[in-house]
Amino acid sequence: MGQPKINIAIDGYSSCGKGTLAKALATALNYVFIDSGAMYRAVTLFLMRHGVDLDDLPQVEQALSHVQVAFEMDDSGVSFVTLNDENVENEIRSIAVASKVSEVAKIQAVRDKLVYLQQQMGAKKGVVMDGRDIGTVVFPDAELKIFMTASVEVRAQRRFAELVAKGDVVTFEEISENLKHRDSVDSSRENSPLTMTADYRVLDNSDMDRDAQFALAMAWADEAIAANSQF
Ligand code: DC
Repeated sequence: MGQPKINIAIDGYSSCGKGTLAKALATALNYVFIDSGAMYRAVTLFLMRHGVDLDDLPQVEQALSHVQVAFEMDDSGVSFVTLNDENVENEIRSIAVASKVSEVAKIQAVRDKLVYLQQQMGAKKGVVMDGRDIGTVVFPDAELKIFMTASVEVRAQRRFAELVAKGDVVTFEEISENLKHRDSVDSSRENSPLTMTADYRVLDNSDMDRDAQFALAMAWADEAIAANSQF
C-alpha cells in the first residue's frame, strides 16, 4: 500500500508566493495543484463580459447558473483554468480582472458555488490548494494548513520586479497601494475573510528564498503525512 494522501491548504495575503510554493509541493508529492484564486478570477471574467451588475443578486445568481469553471492540462502537463471550456488562463491575469475580483469574491453566492467545486476536487485527497479560505472553509480538516505572509514592502518589490520584467509600465507606489487595498478587502469582508486559526503553520518568507521556504514546507508535509499514516 502506498503512503496515504493528505490535503494541503495554503492561505495568505496577495503576492506572497502561495502559488509558487503550492506548485512546488504538488510536484514533489505528485499531488494535484489547484489555484482557487483562478476560479474567482474566471467567474469575474464571465460577469464582466456579460455586464452583470454585482449589486443585483438575482442577476448574479442567474449568471452563475451559466458558469462552468474547471482545470485542464496542456500537452506538457501544465494546468490551465477553463471558463465554459475556453482556456482563460491569460485573460484572468489582466489588470481589468484583478481590479474587480475582490468585489466578486465578496459575494456569498459566488463563494458557495466555488467552494462546492473545490471540495469535490479535494474529496479524494492528494490536493494542494492555495487561496484565502482553504483551511478555514474549503478543507477545515486539511492535514496541513500553511498561512503565508511577508511584509508589504517585500511583496510589492517582488511584484514590481515581475511586472517590470514583463514590460508593464507601473510604479512601485501603485503596486504597494494595490496590495494594501486587496489585503484590506480580503481580510475585512463579511463572507469567509482571510483569517488564521491555531492549527495553521505560519510561513513568513520576507527573509527567505524559495529553496528555504520549500524545504520548510516539505518538512511540515512529511510530518503531516507520517502522522496520518499511523491511523
Ligand atoms: O490568489 P489570487 O490573487 O488569484 O485571488 C484573486 C482574488 O480572489 C483575491 O481578491 C482573493 C479572492 N480569493 C478568495 O476570496 N478566496 C480564495 N480561496 C481565493 C481567492
